[in-house]
Amino acid sequence: MIRSRLDPGGADYRSRREAMLGKLADLDAEQAKAVAGGGEKYVERHRGRGKLLARERIELLVDPDSPFLELSPLAAWGSEFPVGASVVCGIGVVEGVECVITANDPTVRGGASNPWTLKKSLRAADIAFQNRLPYVNLVESGGADLPTQKEIFIPGGRIFRDLTRLSAAGIPTVALVFGNSTAGGAYVPGMSDYVVMVRERAKVFLGGPPLVKMATGEESDDESLGGADMHARVSGLADYLAEDEHDALRIGRSIIRSLNWRKQGTMPLEPVQEPKYPVDELLGIVPEDLKIPFDPREVIARVVDASAFEEFKPAYGASLVTGWARIHGYPVGVLANARGVLFSEESQKATQFIQLANQSRTPLIFLQNTTGYMVGKDYEQGGIIKHGAMMINAVSNSTVPHLTIVMGASYGAGNYGMCGRAYEPRLLFSWPSAKSAVMGPAQLAGVLSIVGRASAQAKGQVYDEEADAAMRAMVEAQIEAESLPFFLSGRLYDDGVIDPRDTRTVLGMCLSAVNSAPVPETAGFGVFRP
Ligand code: COA
Repeated sequence: MIRSRLDPGGADYRSRREAMLGKLADLDAEQAKAVAGGGEKYVERHRGRGKLLARERIELLVDPDSPFLELSPLAAWGSEFPVGASVVCGIGVVEGVECVITANDPTVRGGASNPWTLKKSLRAADIAFQNRLPYVNLVESGGADLPTQKEIFIPGGRIFRDLTRLSAAGIPTVALVFGNSTAGGAYVPGMSDYVVMVRERAKVFLGGPPLVKMATGEESDDESLGGADMHARVSGLADYLAEDEHDALRIGRSIIRSLNWRKQGTMPLEPVQEPKYPVDELLGIVPEDLKIPFDPREVIARVVDASAFEEFKPAYGASLVTGWARIHGYPVGVLANARGVLFSEESQKATQFIQLANQSRTPLIFLQNTTGYMVGKDYEQGGIIKHGAMMINAVSNSTVPHLTIVMGASYGAGNYGMCGRAYEPRLLFSWPSAKSAVMGPAQLAGVLSIVGRASAQAKGQVYDEEADAAMRAMVEAQIEAESLPFFLSGRLYDDGVIDPRDTRTVLGMCLSAVNSAPVPETAGFGVFRP
C-alpha cells in the first residue's frame, strides 16, 4: 500500500487546493456555456415547439440515474463558434449496454455542423469503433454550417463512411430522428442500421421543397418529400414510427435491449476496494507552478483500489514511476512522471514495462507531468534520442488499451512518449492544471530570441533589444494561452477537462467501456535500437 506523505494541514496543500478550486470554478463557468446551448431565446423557442433539449433526450435514453461520461464539452472553445460545438457526445449506458451517444443541439444555429462539430462527431465514431460500442445518434440538425462549408463538406463525408464501417464491423448504429435531417444529413439515418422517426417532426430529404422546385420544377411539401409517416409507409427509410419524442427514446432503448449485446473484454476482479486516502485530497497535490515537482504516487494512492501499487523498478529511472494496480477491479499498469524530465533510464524502463503489459494483456494508464526528454551533450552522447525513440516505438505499437490523464506539464516529445493525443490513447482527459506545448513559453521565446540575435549578427545588423523584449513578452503570452487546457480541449486535443476528484470514476468508466471490445492481439514492435 502506498504510504502518503501529503500533509493536508500544511500551507502548500492549502494553496494548491485553493488554486485548483479556482480553476474548477472557471471550468464550471465554461461548461455552463455548453449546457446553455444557443441561449435562452432559442431554448425557449425550442421548448415552445414542444421539443426536448439535447441533454434531456440523452437523459431519457440512458438508464435512470446512470452516469453519462460527456466528451469534449468545451469543443470550439476559443473559436468563433459557441462552446460545445452544437453537439453533445458521450458514453452512456442504455439497457445495461455502454453506447456512444451523440445528440445535435438544435438551439445552436439550428444544430448545424461547423468544423468543430465535425471533429467532435468523427471522434465519437472513432471511440465507438475502437471500443466496439453501439453508436446512437439523436438527430436534429440544419446540416452543414453553410458559411464554413469549405471546412466541412469534403472531410465531412467520413461521417457516413464511418457509420457503414461500424456496421460492417458488427457495431450497431441507431438514428433517432427528432427533426431536420436534410441534404448530406439525410445519410445519417440513411447509413444507420436502425432508424426511428418522430411523426410530424422528422424531416429527412436530400432536398427541401425550394431546392426541388429549382432542380426539377416539381411542386412539393415537407411531408411528402421527407415526413416520418411517408418514410415509414412509402420509402421504407424509417424502421419505426414514433408518436412523439418520448416514444422515440423508448423505441431506441428497446432496440438496444434487443441487440443482446455482450461485452467481449475482461471482467473486473472482485472485490473492489476504495482507495485508502480521500479522493478529495487530489485537489491539493499539483503545485500551481509546474516547475515544482510532485510525487505521482500521491495521485495513484487516491485513484487505485485499496491504494495498492506494486511498483516496478522503483530504484531505476526514478523520474518515471511504473507499476501494477487495479482500478474498479480492472488490472492496470501505470506510468507516471515523477520529476518531469525523462532520461535514458526512464525511457528504457518504460519500454520494458510497456512490453510486459502487452505480454500480460494489461491496459496502461499514463499520468503525464513531463517537460520532455533530457537535452545536453552528455545525454545526447548517452543516446537519449535512441532511448526516447524506443519508448515512443513501444507506446506506438503497444496494442493494449491506453488511457491518458494530463495532470500537469506535457511538453516536447514527452507528450509523445507518454501517450499524448497523436498516440491514440483510447481516451485522454486533462486536469485543469494541465499545460501542453512544444516547450515552455519562456524557453520558446528565449529560443526565438537567440535565433533572431544570431541571424542579425550574421547579416552584420545591430540587434534591436527593445523589439526583442517586446517580442519575447508577446510570444510568451501567446504560448501560455495556447498551452492551457480550455484552449487545447477546444481544439479536441483531449476528450475533456475533468475534476481531479473524478479521475478514479472516469478511469473506471473508461476501463469498462474499452472492455466492450475483445482484448486485442499481442503487439509486434518496431525495430528497437538498444
Ligand atoms: N448553416 C448556418 N446557419 C444555419 C444553418 C446552416 N445550415 N441552419 C440554420 N442556421 C441558423 C439560422 O440562420 C438561424 O440564425 P439566426 O437565428 O441568427 O437568424 C439559426 O441557425 C436558427 O435557424 P432557424 O431557421 O431560425 O431555426 P428553425 O429551427 O426554425 O429551423 C432548420 C431549423 C435547420 C430547419 C432551418 O434553419 C434550415 O432549413 N436550415 C438550412 C438547412 C439546409 O438546407 N442545410 C444544408 C445542409 S447541406
